[in-house]
Amino acid sequence: MRVLVTGGAGFIGSNFIRHLLSDRPECEIINFDKLTYAGNLENLTDVEDNPRYHFVRGDVAMRAELEPVFKEKIWGIVHFAAESHVDRSLYSPLTFVETNVFGTGNLLDLALRHKVERFVHISTDEVYGSTSSGKFTEASRLNPTSPYSASKASSDLLALAYFKSFALPLVVDRCTNNFGPYQFPEKLIPLFVTNALEDKPLPVYGDGLYVRDWLFVADHCRAIEKMLFEGRPGEIYNVGGSNELTNLDITRRILARLRKPESLITHVADRPGHDRRYALDASKLERELGWKSRRSLEEALDLTIDWYVNNRSWWQKVKSGEYQQYYQKNYGVRLGSAKDAV
Ligand code: NAD
Ligand code: TYD
Repeated sequence: MRVLVTGGAGFIGSNFIRHLLSDRPECEIINFDKLTYAGNLENLTDVEDNPRYHFVRGDVAMRAELEPVFKEKIWGIVHFAAESHVDRSLYSPLTFVETNVFGTGNLLDLALRHKVERFVHISTDEVYGSTSSGKFTEASRLNPTSPYSASKASSDLLALAYFKSFALPLVVDRCTNNFGPYQFPEKLIPLFVTNALEDKPLPVYGDGLYVRDWLFVADHCRAIEKMLFEGRPGEIYNVGGSNELTNLDITRRILARLRKPESLITHVADRPGHDRRYALDASKLERELGWKSRRSLEEALDLTIDWYVNNRSWWQKVKSGEYQQYYQKNYGVRLGSAKDAV
């Protein structure tokens, strides 16, 4: 059973590849990834020699690079590849349109042409926009606000159109903020943990009272596996951790775990168009596919923080740009560095 994973060198994709290889011995995985600044093959060194794992470098937005992958029969696709950071989308919106919209279009089209049997499109809670009360269900209206969330909403609609118009058997996964090992240190939790470890300021945008629901990546990977094998074609599934916290709350928890002073908290200018609160009702996934998160927020956050404490060389290389130089030398890839992160 061959599964094509796009964006598998990134944060969630690499966690998912490791999960699927260990949980499903019948699966062979092709990881198709462009290796942008966020793609890092060091996330997968422990599986790179596994005969059921193969890496192909390529861009989903370039049909000629994607097409050869379909020469061998692909049973299923899990589509993670995306530009994923809201702040970057404010500086370079069209890159998001290219990868997230056009790239998804290419993949859907090839999946249809080659009769792929299962397709999980990884989307985000951000497509629903912000709400001050209540929780979004799968039937809530889309109201994206950033170029990132607008590009993801566009790709969701395109994916659903491929189900409705052509019966491509796909499901859409709308998940909340993931956290865990191997997350690129431009997102809140890994940036703040690694900055705190280096006694650097933690830049909290605005008043810090923005609310996110936090989902442990290992729990999310189990949900994706369920969607891949048991999801009902044409359905959308919200995935959430039921862990709503303000940014200041989560920042204080990080500092407490690391025994670092709250004086590291530095309020900086707010993100333009910053969504105040994301919140999902994820009961459909539990009702239909029997999924529940397994780790409490406390336990998962401690595991995550400890991972960054114990894997300094991983994030120091990422933050310094050292691994980008390695890929440039070995793959001829010119990559951005964490230093370029806006
Ligand atoms: P990430 O930024 O860590 O990784 C993205 C991966 O995609 C990288 O390996 C990158 O090299 C690859 N990629 C980017 N453009 C590509 C292209 N044109 N062709 C091929 N590969 C390309 O992202 P992540 O945090 O792992 O997110 C994965 C998916 O989950 C994304 O679709 C994102 O929108 C979605 N998501 C993430 C979160 C989160 O909290 N991280 C929350 C909701 C949804
Ligand atoms: P982020 O991890 O970028 O995820 P998203 O924007 O997709 O939710 O940000 C999470 C929250 O943390 C969001 O409200 C923005 C805020 N934030 C900061 O306050 N400072 C930072 O340096 C970053 C990266 C995020």
